[in-house]
Amino acid sequence: MEGSDAGPPYNEGRTTPKGGSRQPPNNMTVQIFRDRPLDGLTTFGTRATAEAYAEASSLESLKELLAHAAESGLPVRFLGAGANTVAMSRVPGLVIRIAIKGIEKKPAPDGGTLVRCGAGEIFDDIVKMTVAEGLGGLENLSAVPGTVGGAVVQNIGAYGVELAERLQSVTVWDSKAGEVRELSTEECDFAYRHSILKTPAGEGLVVLSALLHLPARWYPVTGYRDLDAEIAARGLTAVTLTPAALSDAVRAVRSRKLPDPARLGNAGSFFTNPIISKVHWRELLTKHPSLVYYKLGGGRMKLAAAWLIEAAGFKGAVRGNAGVYENHALILVNRGGASGEEVLALAEDIRRRVREMFGVELAMEPVVLG
Ligand code: EPU
Repeated sequence: MEGSDAGPPYNEGRTTPKGGSRQPPNNMTVQIFRDRPLDGLTTFGTRATAEAYAEASSLESLKELLAHAAESGLPVRFLGAGANTVAMSRVPGLVIRIAIKGIEKKPAPDGGTLVRCGAGEIFDDIVKMTVAEGLGGLENLSAVPGTVGGAVVQNIGAYGVELAERLQSVTVWDSKAGEVRELSTEECDFAYRHSILKTPAGEGLVVLSALLHLPARWYPVTGYRDLDAEIAARGLTAVTLTPAALSDAVRAVRSRKLPDPARLGNAGSFFTNPIISKVHWRELLTKHPSLVYYKLGGGRMKLAAAWLIEAAGFKGAVRGNAGVYENHALILVNRGGASGEEVLALAEDIRRRVREMFGVELAMEPVVLG
């Protein structure tokens, strides 16, 4: 089941087990690999090794792995396509890659379409499939890397659409209760790059599948400056702007702005766009008239983190093997052979300087594994 870079399974090669609690799991059907390099399993590609690693391609294998980890006292971490992950040099415990597949489509009672997707499906494959069938709703999320599970946890968003808006429910394994549960979108507590699954309240919940709801009556979501410019440049009109045409436009914009992880390791936006009070925003705008911001409801303002980082002088910065992308200040990159520690050190420098200059706290978007 593994590529050639997988470390040896637990039941081979370990001559001196670390202790009684970590005996090789000879009775297991799922293979667990020890000292497994994770470099190729994250889009950042940081040099990393997991103490133990396994893939769960079904609920049964997930349960088996969780039971083994609990018996062995191994902390568990989950991985999808590693698109929003910074892996540290040494990742203690058991890393479980969720590889649960399956796509099932059926009509929704309101005339729309329901698509159930396994958590391990590549999200962009679902976008491509639905768009190719003329089904609209996901096109603004074209080319967002990662799995369906990761997309749900993170509530991915791009060009005016958040995944939460296209979800009906999320099926999870509740490892504390020992049962499968169907969470409504309200129970998921979705917000900007946020869900309950990222919080202590969501501890022990593992996404098994997502039920997407694509609308019966499609309308294009436009209004994002870069995307509107691309639509205009392509001469698209109300008649020719189909889900497929909009998807192509989104892909073009993204490929111009964001580095291809296959060529330059990265995890997309490294920080979320910070939300501050109107009072704080007014102060900043007086001092920095070119500040980029968006008005939110309730007297809150969202700032473009990229602007703050560029103004702090970090665009194109190089710190050993890590750096800030020269074409977009919000993207930290692996210039080749970077460790997670190097990336986090650079991120910390950026956070400190932005705090000093603007009194704004930047929150990291990717998950740290380690
Ligand atoms: N900007 C700068 N310097 C730069 C780049 C941008 O000052 O180097 C300013 C520009 O004024 C620009 C503004 O920042 O108008 C915002 O930049 P951009 O349009 O690229 O969007 P973003 O806020 O950086 C967000 C999401 C992206 C998503 C795009 C499009 C977050 C943290 N990021 O980026 O999501 O694709 O909008 O909707 O919300 C991701 O989460 O990984 C991601 C790529």
